[in-house]
Amino acid sequence: MNATQLGRAFFKPKWPSTIARRGVQNQAQAPRPRRPSQRPPISRRPSKAEPEGHPNPNYKGPTMSPRLMTFLGISVLGISSYCGFLYASYSREVSKSQALDIPTDVSDRYNTTAPTFDAEVELSEKAMRMGSKRADLIRLARGDVLEVSCGTGRNLEYYDLGERRGVDEDGKAAILGCRTLTFVDLSPQMVAIAEEKFEALHPGYKSQSPPVTFRAQDAASVTVTAGAPMGENKKAYYDSIVQTMGLCSMPDPVRTLRHLGEITEPKNGRILLLEHGRSHYNWLNRILDNLAPAHADRHGCWWNRDIGAIVKESGLEIVEEKRWHFGTTWRYVLRPRASSE
Ligand SMILES: C[S@@+](CC[C@H](N)C(=O)[O-])C[C@H]1O[C@@H](n2cnc3c(N)ncnc32)[C@H](O)[C@@H]1O
Repeated sequence: MNATQLGRAFFKPKWPSTIARRGVQNQAQAPRPRRPSQRPPISRRPSKAEPEGHPNPNYKGPTMSPRLMTFLGISVLGISSYCGFLYASYSREVSKSQALDIPTDVSDRYNTTAPTFDAEVELSEKAMRMGSKRADLIRLARGDVLEVSCGTGRNLEYYDLGERRGVDEDGKAAILGCRTLTFVDLSPQMVAIAEEKFEALHPGYKSQSPPVTFRAQDAASVTVTAGAPMGENKKAYYDSIVQTMGLCSMPDPVRTLRHLGEITEPKNGRILLLEHGRSHYNWLNRILDNLAPAHADRHGCWWNRDIGAIVKESGLEIVEEKRWHFGTTWRYVLRPRASSE
């Protein structure tokens, strides 16, 4: 061996032979590779008639592109961070809300929120399609009509003005439309906005005879004789009493409902309610309960009231009951309970 051969032998790398040896060992343990199939590779969907297992031996199962995997990873991370953030904010709000000491009567809040009330509720009312629910309820109002807790007059556009003879939904002859309209609300600021809206909707109509009346008054103190334009009949009752989203805001909703029952025409008169309150679902009621003090303090409304229980306690007779939005929106048609005399 000359010097050159000696040098090559010394510097000859060991790894190829090591790997080769390991390869031989691994080959001994590993299952023998399958001989390449005689059949041409199949690149088609397996037919229903084929037995189980993929017909192509080179098929390695479903794969996901690295780009898709990265996208999914980032999405999962983003969603979980957002949920964490929401939960942290919710917990913070619950703690703040529970620490508040709010009186039951928060109805004075509307005096300050009146100018922004419509803008604040507009989006959620649209999302919940409340416009059609209001319209469907107000369509039932007829004769001498009183709307209590009228707020900024979100129902005004749905009233059928002027009493006339016609045919009802069942095809029977009936007196249709509203002969008189009286709107009351505890907040002078809210009722002033309603009155302006009415004038814009029906210019000049307000001063016609019988007139349309707006006044600031507690719903529990409305009497038919105290300023209600009842015309020549001098009846002591209203034919229809409307209230939408009002039971949540008053300090004693049961007492107010009982009072409304006393001024509703006993035979054919109706109290028409569209209210919001507790849900069918406990998980949602827990959220409403937890955040109720803060919501009441800010918006003047107890959104966790059990409207069904309030109606039941009032003793009025239920003609119709409906609920939407996980049970939080309640519609009632009520009438005074027939007296036993
Ligand atoms: C949530 S707002 C609803 C307003 C309107 N009815 C509507 O559907 O948009 C509640 C209203 O009830 C009025 N309110 C609260 N307590 C009242 C009471 N005891 N008598 C009359 N109105 C009352 C408030 O001033 C407020 O305008």
